[in-house]
Amino acid sequence: MELASAHLHKGQVPWGGLLLTASLLASWSPATTAEVTIEAVPPQVAEDNNVLLLVHNLPLALGAFAWYKGNTTAIDKEIARFVPNSNMNFTGQAYSGREIIYSNGSLLFQMITMKDMGVYTLDMTDENYRRTQATVRFHVHQPVTQPFLQVTNTTVKELDSVTLTCLSNDIGANIQWLFNSQSLQLTERMTLSQNNSILRIDPIKREDAGEYQCEISNPVSVRRSNSIKLDIIWEVTSEISQSTNPQPPTTIWLLLTTLLTRWMTSHTLS
Ligand SMILES: *[C@@H]1O[C@H](CO)[C@@H](O)[C@H](O)[C@H]1NC(C)=O
Ligand SMILES: *[C@@H]1O[C@H](CO)[C@@H](O)[C@H](O)[C@H]1NC(C)=O
Ligand SMILES: *[C@@H]1O[C@H](CO)[C@@H](O)[C@H](O)[C@H]1NC(C)=O
Ligand SMILES: *[C@@H]1O[C@H](CO)[C@@H](O)[C@H](O)[C@H]1NC(C)=O
Ligand SMILES: *[C@@H]1O[C@H](CO)[C@@H](O)[C@H](O)[C@H]1NC(C)=O
Repeated sequence: MELASAHLHKGQVPWGGLLLTASLLASWSPATTAEVTIEAVPPQVAEDNNVLLLVHNLPLALGAFAWYKGNTTAIDKEIARFVPNSNMNFTGQAYSGREIIYSNGSLLFQMITMKDMGVYTLDMTDENYRRTQATVRFHVHQPVTQPFLQVTNTTVKELDSVTLTCLSNDIGANIQWLFNSQSLQLTERMTLSQNNSILRIDPIKREDAGEYQCEISNPVSVRRSNSIKLDIIWEVTSEISQSTNPQPPTTIWLLLTTLLTRWMTSHTLS
């Protein structure tokens, strides 16, 4: 049985096995109790904000339930306990003064700090003193600080290169680039490096002239850098010599002769 199933890959469960598993599950779990699940709202918390550890399907007949900090039910990690019969709550050794335990099982955690991040355990004791646990995890983020954008040179000759550097204190934050306040469309002349913090344009073209910014974000915040205006200069010598040239404009002559040639050709053919 074990050998046979070891050769099966995910999604290759034969119908017989699937039906057997389903019937076993049905016979093992009492039809009346749905699984207790806990949801952190929001799952990504900004520092100093609140998070609600929302309990779904809390069993109705409980003698008591208690919240613990960590994946544990150690006595010194107990935050608070609730006794439904008396409708009373009790605080534990890990209570910080910022938690509220509700009769429906949920725990409200206020003014979150970085140290609060992690796993929390809900321990449920039924009327027969049988204990079960469910866990939840939430992440805490500090809002990002404003990044600073630097450039090697704000005036660049066309076909030269330029390097823009997005300086940020927020390690691991996501970096995006903006061009004239829109998301920068990368071309094959642009390369990003160092986790997107460095943008190199080589060779630069006149269409790259404009306002550049970088944007730092994490799941709870977003900040834009200062804006840098990039000017592109290019050679205009040939255009100047043409306009100062006293000769009649050659293009018109060329156009006239072309038309004349075409007219003559069409008339000789017909
Ligand atoms: C439980 O109580 C809290 C506080 O009143 C509430 O925010 C939450 O929506 C309730 N429901 C569940 C399923 O926890
Ligand atoms: C809690 O610990 C148990 C046993 O060590 C483990 O199976 C489970 O995955 C852990 N839960 C979390 C959320 O870390
Ligand atoms: C205990 O209940 C009281 C009264 O409802 C409430 O003010 C207090 O915040 C509760 N304590 C905890 C830890 O939930
Ligand atoms: C910036 O670029 C211009 C034009 O290429 C050049 O004249 C100037 O020396 C450059 N400045 C620096 C600091 O590189
Ligand atoms: C890129 O980000 C990862 C994860 O935050 C970090 O470990 C790594 O050092 C970064 N690399 C560079 C070149 O900054």
